[in-house]
Amino acid sequence: MTHFLDIHKTDPDALRSIIDNAQAMKAARNGRPKGTPDDEQPLAGRMVALIFEKPSTRTRISFDVGVRQMGGETMVLSGADMQLGHGETIADTARVLSRYVDLIMIRTFEEATLLEMAEHADVPVINGLTNRTHPCQIMADVMTFEEHRGPITGKKVVWSGDGNNVFASFAHAAGQFGFDLTFTGPETLDPEPAWFDFCAAKGHPLTVQRNPEKAVEGADLVVTDTWVSMHDPQSARERRHNQLRPYQVNEELMRHARPDALFMHCLPAHRDDEATSAVMDGPHSVIFDEAENRLHAQKAIMRHCLGV
Ligand code: CP
Repeated sequence: MTHFLDIHKTDPDALRSIIDNAQAMKAARNGRPKGTPDDEQPLAGRMVALIFEKPSTRTRISFDVGVRQMGGETMVLSGADMQLGHGETIADTARVLSRYVDLIMIRTFEEATLLEMAEHADVPVINGLTNRTHPCQIMADVMTFEEHRGPITGKKVVWSGDGNNVFASFAHAAGQFGFDLTFTGPETLDPEPAWFDFCAAKGHPLTVQRNPEKAVEGADLVVTDTWVSMHDPQSARERRHNQLRPYQVNEELMRHARPDALFMHCLPAHRDDEATSAVMDGPHSVIFDEAENRLHAQKAIMRHCLGV
Protein backbone atom coordinates (compact mmCIF):
# COMPACT_ATOMS: atom_id res chain seq x y z
CA MET A 1 0.00 0.00 0.00
CA THR A 2 1.53 3.30 -1.06
CA HIS A 3 -0.22 6.20 0.60
CA PHE A 4 0.82 9.82 0.09
CA LEU A 5 0.28 11.21 3.57
CA ASP A 6 3.13 13.69 3.90
CA ILE A 7 6.36 14.78 2.28
CA HIS A 8 8.46 13.80 5.31
CA LYS A 9 6.91 10.31 5.23
CA THR A 10 7.75 9.75 1.56
CA ASP A 11 11.14 8.50 0.41
CA PRO A 12 13.25 11.30 -1.18
CA ASP A 13 13.86 9.19 -4.32
CA ALA A 14 10.11 8.74 -4.70
CA LEU A 15 9.57 12.49 -4.26
CA ARG A 16 12.14 13.21 -6.97
CA SER A 17 10.51 10.68 -9.26
CA ILE A 18 7.08 12.28 -8.69
CA ILE A 19 8.40 15.73 -9.63
CA ASP A 20 10.19 14.41 -12.72
CA ASN A 21 7.12 12.44 -13.82
CA ALA A 22 4.90 15.48 -13.29
CA GLN A 23 7.15 17.58 -15.52
CA ALA A 24 7.21 14.84 -18.18
CA MET A 25 3.42 14.47 -18.15
CA LYS A 26 2.97 18.24 -18.36
CA ALA A 27 5.34 18.39 -21.33
CA ALA A 28 3.60 15.44 -23.01
CA ARG A 29 0.28 17.31 -23.01
CA ASN A 30 2.05 20.01 -25.01
CA GLY A 31 -0.74 22.57 -24.63
CA ARG A 32 -3.53 20.31 -25.87
CA PRO A 33 -7.14 21.17 -24.82
CA LYS A 34 -7.70 20.54 -21.13
CA GLY A 35 -10.64 18.21 -21.63
CA THR A 36 -8.76 15.81 -23.88
CA PRO A 37 -7.21 12.60 -22.53
CA ASP A 38 -3.50 11.99 -22.09
CA ASP A 39 -1.85 9.65 -24.58
CA GLU A 40 -1.26 7.25 -21.70
CA GLN A 41 -4.37 6.18 -19.76
CA PRO A 42 -2.96 4.64 -16.56
CA LEU A 43 -6.18 5.18 -14.58
CA ALA A 44 -8.48 3.55 -17.16
CA GLY A 45 -11.10 1.55 -15.28
CA ARG A 46 -10.15 3.11 -11.94
CA MET A 47 -12.50 5.00 -9.61
CA VAL A 48 -11.20 7.74 -7.29
CA ALA A 49 -13.10 9.15 -4.29
CA LEU A 50 -12.41 12.81 -3.53
CA ILE A 51 -13.65 13.64 -0.02
CA PHE A 52 -13.87 17.25 1.16
CA GLU A 53 -14.68 18.20 4.73
CA LYS A 54 -13.49 21.76 3.99
CA PRO A 55 -13.99 24.09 1.00
CA SER A 56 -11.70 23.83 -2.01
CA THR A 57 -11.32 25.22 -5.51
CA ARG A 58 -7.86 24.12 -6.69
CA THR A 59 -7.61 20.74 -4.96
CA ARG A 60 -11.09 19.65 -5.96
CA ILE A 61 -10.89 20.66 -9.60
CA SER A 62 -7.26 19.69 -10.23
CA PHE A 63 -7.74 16.17 -8.82
CA ASP A 64 -10.98 15.73 -10.77
CA VAL A 65 -9.49 16.91 -14.06
CA GLY A 66 -6.28 14.96 -13.46
CA VAL A 67 -8.08 11.65 -12.94
CA ARG A 68 -10.16 12.19 -16.08
CA GLN A 69 -7.12 13.09 -18.20
CA MET A 70 -5.57 9.77 -17.11
CA GLY A 71 -8.69 7.80 -18.07
CA GLY A 72 -10.21 7.30 -14.62
CA GLU A 73 -13.46 8.39 -13.02
CA THR A 74 -14.12 10.37 -9.86
CA MET A 75 -16.80 10.86 -7.28
CA VAL A 76 -16.57 14.08 -5.31
CA LEU A 77 -18.03 13.69 -1.81
CA SER A 78 -18.54 16.12 1.04
CA GLY A 79 -18.09 14.75 4.55
CA ALA A 80 -21.47 16.22 5.54
CA ASP A 81 -23.27 14.29 2.79
CA MET A 82 -21.74 10.97 3.88
CA GLN A 83 -22.55 8.96 7.01
CA LEU A 84 -19.05 10.06 8.06
CA GLY A 85 -20.63 13.38 8.97
CA HIS A 86 -23.32 11.62 11.00
CA GLY A 87 -21.29 9.45 13.30
CA GLU A 88 -20.03 6.52 11.19
CA THR A 89 -16.44 5.84 12.19
CA ILE A 90 -13.50 6.74 9.98
CA ALA A 91 -12.37 3.12 10.14
CA ASP A 92 -15.69 1.75 8.88
CA THR A 93 -15.86 4.44 6.19
CA ALA A 94 -12.37 3.47 5.02
CA ARG A 95 -13.27 -0.23 4.86
CA VAL A 96 -16.47 0.46 2.92
CA LEU A 97 -14.89 2.88 0.45
CA SER A 98 -12.14 0.35 -0.21
CA ARG A 99 -14.77 -2.02 -1.61
CA TYR A 100 -15.88 0.58 -4.19
CA VAL A 101 -12.92 2.72 -5.19
CA ASP A 102 -9.26 2.32 -6.10
CA LEU A 103 -7.92 5.49 -4.46
CA ILE A 104 -9.08 7.96 -1.79
CA MET A 105 -8.11 11.62 -1.56
CA ILE A 106 -9.32 13.33 1.60
CA ARG A 107 -9.25 16.96 2.77
CA THR A 108 -10.09 17.02 6.44
CA PHE A 109 -9.54 18.90 9.69
CA GLU A 110 -7.60 16.67 12.06
CA GLU A 111 -4.52 14.75 10.96
CA ALA A 112 -5.84 11.85 13.07
CA THR A 113 -8.74 11.45 10.61
CA LEU A 114 -6.36 11.11 7.67
CA LEU A 115 -4.17 8.63 9.53
CA GLU A 116 -7.14 6.52 10.63
CA MET A 117 -8.45 6.49 7.06
CA ALA A 118 -5.05 5.31 5.82
CA GLU A 119 -4.74 2.69 8.54
CA HIS A 120 -8.06 1.04 7.71
CA ALA A 121 -8.26 1.52 3.93
CA ASP A 122 -7.24 -1.27 1.58
CA VAL A 123 -6.52 1.31 -1.14
CA PRO A 124 -4.04 4.21 -1.19
CA VAL A 125 -4.98 7.43 0.62
CA ILE A 126 -3.75 10.90 -0.38
CA ASN A 127 -3.63 13.89 1.98
CA GLY A 128 -5.50 16.77 0.33
CA LEU A 129 -4.81 19.03 3.35
CA THR A 130 -5.24 18.73 7.09
CA ASN A 131 -4.90 21.37 9.78
CA ARG A 132 -1.28 20.21 10.10
CA THR A 133 0.09 19.78 6.56
CA HIS A 134 -0.59 20.29 2.81
CA PRO A 135 1.86 18.07 0.93
CA CYS A 136 0.23 18.12 -2.54
CA GLN A 137 0.54 21.90 -2.60
CA ILE A 138 4.25 21.87 -1.85
CA MET A 139 4.97 19.17 -4.43
CA ALA A 140 3.42 21.56 -6.97
CA ASP A 141 5.51 24.40 -5.53
CA VAL A 142 8.77 22.46 -5.85
CA MET A 143 7.80 21.56 -9.42
CA THR A 144 7.05 25.21 -10.16
CA PHE A 145 10.34 26.45 -8.72
CA GLU A 146 12.33 23.92 -10.74
CA GLU A 147 10.38 24.74 -13.91
CA HIS A 148 11.53 28.37 -13.62
CA ARG A 149 14.92 28.14 -11.90
CA GLY A 150 16.26 24.56 -12.09
CA PRO A 151 17.03 22.30 -9.12
CA ILE A 152 15.76 23.62 -5.78
CA THR A 153 18.52 21.84 -3.85
CA GLY A 154 20.76 24.40 -2.14
CA LYS A 155 18.47 27.36 -2.87
CA LYS A 156 17.21 29.83 -0.25
CA VAL A 157 13.46 29.86 0.40
CA VAL A 158 11.90 32.39 2.78
CA TRP A 159 8.45 31.99 4.30
CA SER A 160 6.95 35.25 5.57
CA GLY A 161 3.91 35.06 7.85
CA ASP A 162 2.14 32.33 9.82
CA GLY A 163 3.98 29.07 10.56
CA ASN A 164 0.91 27.11 9.46
CA ASN A 165 0.13 23.79 7.76
CA VAL A 166 1.42 24.94 4.35
CA PHE A 167 4.67 26.08 5.97
CA ALA A 168 4.92 22.64 7.62
CA SER A 169 4.99 20.91 4.24
CA PHE A 170 7.57 23.43 3.01
CA ALA A 171 9.71 22.46 6.02
CA HIS A 172 9.35 18.79 5.10
CA ALA A 173 10.34 19.60 1.52
CA ALA A 174 13.39 21.54 2.74
CA GLY A 175 14.60 18.44 4.55
CA GLN A 176 13.80 16.02 1.72
CA PHE A 177 14.93 18.10 -1.29
CA GLY A 178 17.79 19.81 0.57
CA PHE A 179 17.12 23.55 0.43
CA ASP A 180 17.55 26.27 3.04
CA LEU A 181 14.29 27.49 4.57
CA THR A 182 14.00 30.67 6.63
CA PHE A 183 10.89 31.49 8.64
CA THR A 184 10.08 35.14 9.31
CA GLY A 185 7.01 35.86 11.38
CA PRO A 186 5.91 36.68 14.92
CA GLU A 187 7.04 34.36 17.70
CA THR A 188 3.41 33.63 18.63
CA LEU A 189 2.88 32.03 15.19
CA ASP A 190 6.10 30.04 15.07
CA PRO A 191 6.04 26.64 13.35
CA GLU A 192 5.76 23.43 15.36
CA PRO A 193 8.98 22.39 17.13
CA ALA A 194 8.70 18.99 15.40
CA TRP A 195 9.45 20.60 12.03
CA PHE A 196 12.63 22.19 13.40
CA ASP A 197 13.69 18.76 14.66
CA PHE A 198 12.94 17.13 11.29
CA CYS A 199 14.92 19.65 9.25
CA ALA A 200 17.85 19.59 11.68
CA ALA A 201 17.96 15.79 11.51
CA LYS A 202 18.04 16.00 7.69
CA GLY A 203 21.00 18.43 7.83
CA HIS A 204 19.04 21.47 6.65
CA PRO A 205 18.13 23.29 9.89
CA LEU A 206 15.34 25.86 9.69
CA THR A 207 16.42 29.46 10.24
CA VAL A 208 14.27 31.97 12.13
CA GLN A 209 14.76 35.68 11.43
CA ARG A 210 12.20 38.04 12.96
CA ASN A 211 13.20 40.95 10.68
CA PRO A 212 11.52 40.27 7.31
CA GLU A 213 13.88 42.48 5.30
CA LYS A 214 16.94 40.68 6.70
CA ALA A 215 15.20 37.33 6.22
CA VAL A 216 14.68 37.75 2.48
CA GLU A 217 18.26 38.85 1.73
CA GLY A 218 19.60 36.46 -0.89
CA ALA A 219 16.25 34.67 -1.23
CA ASP A 220 15.60 32.69 -4.41
CA LEU A 221 11.96 32.28 -3.45
CA VAL A 222 9.64 34.24 -1.14
CA VAL A 223 6.42 32.54 -0.02
CA THR A 224 3.45 33.60 2.05
CA ASP A 225 -0.05 32.40 2.84
CA THR A 226 -3.30 33.74 4.19
CA TRP A 227 -3.15 35.27 7.66
CA VAL A 228 -6.24 33.40 8.85
CA SER A 229 -6.35 29.75 7.78
CA MET A 230 -9.55 27.70 7.33
CA HIS A 231 -9.08 26.09 10.74
CA ASP A 232 -8.33 29.34 12.63
CA PRO A 233 -11.20 30.91 14.59
CA GLN A 234 -12.54 34.08 12.96
CA SER A 235 -12.36 35.70 16.42
CA ALA A 236 -8.56 35.65 15.99
CA ARG A 237 -8.75 37.64 12.76
CA GLU A 238 -7.96 41.12 14.05
CA ARG A 239 -5.17 39.95 16.35
CA ARG A 240 -3.57 37.94 13.55
CA HIS A 241 -3.78 40.84 11.12
CA ASN A 242 -2.03 43.10 13.64
CA GLN A 243 0.66 40.52 14.31
CA LEU A 244 1.27 39.69 10.66
CA ARG A 245 1.05 43.09 8.98
CA PRO A 246 4.84 43.67 9.32
CA TYR A 247 5.33 40.45 7.33
CA GLN A 248 3.26 41.48 4.31
CA VAL A 249 5.05 40.65 1.04
CA ASN A 250 5.13 43.90 -0.92
CA GLU A 251 7.40 45.40 -3.55
CA GLU A 252 9.65 46.97 -0.92
CA LEU A 253 10.23 43.60 0.75
CA MET A 254 10.86 41.90 -2.62
CA ARG A 255 13.58 44.50 -3.34
CA HIS A 256 15.62 42.90 -0.52
CA ALA A 257 15.49 39.45 -2.16
CA ARG A 258 17.56 38.39 -5.19
CA PRO A 259 16.58 40.34 -8.32
CA ASP A 260 15.39 37.10 -9.93
CA ALA A 261 13.57 35.83 -6.82
CA LEU A 262 10.25 34.12 -7.39
CA PHE A 263 7.11 34.81 -5.36
CA MET A 264 4.62 32.06 -4.47
CA HIS A 265 1.27 31.88 -2.70
CA CYS A 266 -0.79 28.69 -2.68
CA LEU A 267 -4.06 30.67 -3.03
CA PRO A 268 -6.73 31.61 -2.20
CA ALA A 269 -5.20 34.99 -1.30
CA HIS A 270 -6.54 38.00 0.52
CA ARG A 271 -5.08 40.59 -1.80
CA ASP A 272 -3.30 43.48 -0.11
CA ASP A 273 -3.24 41.67 3.23
CA GLU A 274 -0.51 39.00 3.19
CA ALA A 275 0.73 40.10 -0.25
CA THR A 276 0.04 43.15 -2.35
CA SER A 277 -1.54 42.90 -5.76
CA ALA A 278 1.59 44.58 -7.13
CA VAL A 279 3.63 41.55 -6.06
CA MET A 280 0.97 38.95 -6.90
CA ASP A 281 0.62 40.31 -10.44
CA GLY A 282 4.23 41.46 -10.74
CA PRO A 283 7.34 40.04 -12.42
CA HIS A 284 8.39 37.80 -9.51
CA SER A 285 5.05 36.05 -9.22
CA VAL A 286 4.42 32.46 -10.38
CA ILE A 287 1.20 31.97 -8.43
CA PHE A 288 -0.88 30.77 -11.38
CA ASP A 289 1.84 28.36 -12.51
CA GLU A 290 1.67 26.97 -8.97
CA ALA A 291 -2.08 26.55 -9.31
CA GLU A 292 -1.72 24.81 -12.69
CA ASN A 293 1.00 22.54 -11.39
CA ARG A 294 -1.32 21.16 -8.71
CA LEU A 295 -2.86 19.25 -11.63
CA HIS A 296 0.39 17.80 -12.95
CA ALA A 297 1.97 17.08 -9.57
CA GLN A 298 -1.12 15.30 -8.28
CA LYS A 299 -1.38 13.19 -11.43
CA ALA A 300 2.16 12.00 -10.70
CA ILE A 301 1.27 11.42 -7.03
CA MET A 302 -1.73 9.28 -8.01
CA ARG A 303 0.42 7.20 -10.39
CA HIS A 304 2.98 6.78 -7.60
CA CYS A 305 0.29 5.58 -5.20
CA LEU A 306 -1.26 3.17 -7.69
CA GLY A 307 2.07 2.02 -9.15
CA VAL A 308 0.86 2.68 -12.70
N1 CP B 1 -4.24 25.87 -2.37
C1 CP B 1 -5.35 25.13 -2.17
O1 CP B 1 -5.32 24.05 -1.58
O2 CP B 1 -6.46 25.64 -2.74
P1 CP B 1 -7.96 25.14 -2.46
O3 CP B 1 -8.24 25.39 -0.99
O4 CP B 1 -8.81 25.98 -3.36
O5 CP B 1 -8.05 23.68 -2.79
